[in-house]
Amino acid sequence: MSRKTTTTKDNDTKRDYTLTTRELQDRILALKEKHDICILAHAYQSQEILEIADYTGDSYGLSVQASKAPNKTILMCGVRFMAETVKILSPEKKVILSNSQAGCPMAEQLDPSLLEALQAANPGYTTVAYINTTSELKTMCDVCVTSSSAVTIVKNIENPNILFIPDCNLGAWVAKQVPEKNFKFVQGGCPTHLRMSTLDVTRARKEHPLAQLLVHPECLPAVTALADYVGSTTGIMDYAKRNSGKEFIIGTENSIVQHLQYACPDKRFYPLSKDCVCHNMKLTTLIDVYNCVQGKGGEVITLDEEVRKGALKSIEKMIELGG
Ligand code: 13P
Ligand code: SF4
Repeated sequence: MSRKTTTTKDNDTKRDYTLTTRELQDRILALKEKHDICILAHAYQSQEILEIADYTGDSYGLSVQASKAPNKTILMCGVRFMAETVKILSPEKKVILSNSQAGCPMAEQLDPSLLEALQAANPGYTTVAYINTTSELKTMCDVCVTSSSAVTIVKNIENPNILFIPDCNLGAWVAKQVPEKNFKFVQGGCPTHLRMSTLDVTRARKEHPLAQLLVHPECLPAVTALADYVGSTTGIMDYAKRNSGKEFIIGTENSIVQHLQYACPDKRFYPLSKDCVCHNMKLTTLIDVYNCVQGKGGEVITLDEEVRKGALKSIEKMIELGG
């Protein structure tokens, strides 16, 4: 990185010192050691953030890591429900969300009063909540699931009747693999993954005829039906790394395209749609992380103890049934 020399209005010169990404990363690594901070980063975070994280992965992997991390402080680089999940599991720890604006629109979609009405209308159903929900909603559910654990968990539930909230697309994908159960859904979903259509599949297959199509189960059922592999963010990454194929079309948040390209430089990765960008996941910058490890930024997560305890049951059940 070259250091620029700028001229001020008064014509005297001064050094315009800009930190490089590498310098910032080094400062973050030193500060997180000094202050005993564990950095968790969801796979949709930028490459430079994944590089300084202690653990990266999908929602399920991060929940499990959060319950095991020995550090006093956990910094979550992801979205709000992920930081709340950490706090629910580890109330004694200081949990920081790296950018307070980073929410998940799907998590806010279902109102508790609507869920109450749905449960009243469907007595005897087990309520299964995608982990992308608020803590308040989790208190009203029997068990949480993530995209990587949903099929296993639903199979392990004794009750054949399942009320699946809030993502009907993930729900439809689970239902296809667990045909022995009866499902009820609500009309919810991820605005980012819903941007991808079958037209994108037709175009991408035409442009890259040798590539395999790997998609996230939050996509529309018409899209997942056309895929060679359907799985969580970690599932997609593992599949692409292990598979002998050389070209892959990626149907999930586009940061995965970049991460895979770093991990497998000899393979080629193409986004299913250039519009599959989660603006909430993209809010967190390396500077946010730097501010947080200095104790100057982010949001310290606090939860009402009743809500935390209520939500804990459904998350513990998820870890128990998820294996
Ligand atoms: P994963 O469970 O694959 O991490 O997905 C989380 C998410 O928010 C996907 O949109
Ligand atoms: Fe939420 Fe979708 Fe973003 Fe995942 S990709 S955090 S489900 S809005």
